[in-house]
Amino acid sequence: MSEPLKVADFERIARKKLEPGPYAYFAGGAGDEQTLRANAEAFTRWELRPRVLVDVGEVTTAASVLGTEVALPVLVAPTAFHRLADPEGELATARAAAAAGTIMCLSTIASVTPAELAAAVPGSPLWFQLYWSTDRGFTKELLAQVVEARFAALMLTVDFPVAGRRERDLRLAFTLPDDLPARNLPGELARRDFHASLGRIVDATLTWRDLEWLRSACDLPLVLKGILTAEDALLAAEHGVSAIVVSNHGGRQLDGVPASLDALPEVVEAAGERVEVLVDGGVQRGTDVLKALALGARAVLSGRAVLWGLAAAGEEGAARVLELLRAEIEGGLKLLGCTRPDEVTRAHVRRAGPPSV
Ligand SMILES: Cc1cc2nc3c(=O)[nH]c(=O)nc-3n(C[C@H](O)[C@H](O)[C@H](O)COP(=O)(O)O)c2cc1C
Repeated sequence: MSEPLKVADFERIARKKLEPGPYAYFAGGAGDEQTLRANAEAFTRWELRPRVLVDVGEVTTAASVLGTEVALPVLVAPTAFHRLADPEGELATARAAAAAGTIMCLSTIASVTPAELAAAVPGSPLWFQLYWSTDRGFTKELLAQVVEARFAALMLTVDFPVAGRRERDLRLAFTLPDDLPARNLPGELARRDFHASLGRIVDATLTWRDLEWLRSACDLPLVLKGILTAEDALLAAEHGVSAIVVSNHGGRQLDGVPASLDALPEVVEAAGERVEVLVDGGVQRGTDVLKALALGARAVLSGRAVLWGLAAAGEEGAARVLELLRAEIEGGLKLLGCTRPDEVTRAHVRRAGPPSV
């Protein structure tokens, strides 16, 4: 195959390299995958409104997220089991993110501990994504490790009281290889029954009230990932969270919910200035990122795009995906008539379709 020129090219290479089981695990969504498809399609329903004769001689893609400067408004989303994509796993991804100058979010379901990841990329910003176990003592100990390893923020995933039904995995009877440790989970994942194990990772009884306990156990800035409604955005703001990720978990949880991009405007409006709003789901292009910025996101997170790079060519592949997105964002900013990500406003997009008369 010729040199990959876009994220979709990396997916094609990854698909060839991966066994069918891991490919299905990465690519798949829940149920009929309506939401998975909607995530990507939503970007095509918005058009960019470029301004011309703007001095774009000097353009930067740098942005700031929770006070951290990142070289591009794309963070690496927390995704499980990077060692299914590459033997170096999360360590390779973290080095790629560090090289790109952005933040990697380490999933709870990883083959490395927070300390091991931090040691691989000294000085680079890391966030930790928490699946909050029924074993509170275990969660408390894990949070202490996250703080000790100097992670910059805690991201609590709130759309996972139970795992979505991923039919691609079920059809292929996908099980994890025996040599794939999940280092930050209590006990061992029961490998024979992958779906049932996923379902037991999280305490399904958690409510907003439990955030108080979380804050007492960990004083890092709190990010809630998996919010899709104005109602929950308001509650998040009232509970003093620092940021929200508008997300449907890459279409892997409740099928039939809106594309993240379509939920973004109502969340931004409800959250107001109090909370930073990020979004993930379906990002494949720099222009997708620009549309998300225009609709009020401070930055996006990338899940599968980075995984495809990792599966295609390890650390270098993940780094190339991030650089590709950065270059596309830079080119897109110039053509849009903006010199920085935070100059992209609601006026830079419109709903696709004929103009209203
Ligand atoms: C293979 C895979 C594993 C994931 N694992 C996690 C996880 O462990 N924790 C989490 O909060 N989200 C997880 N997610 C969701 C991502 O963080 C993110 O919301 C989603 O991938 C964004 O959509 P995209 O893949 O289209 O970029 C996972 C997604 C994928 C594709």
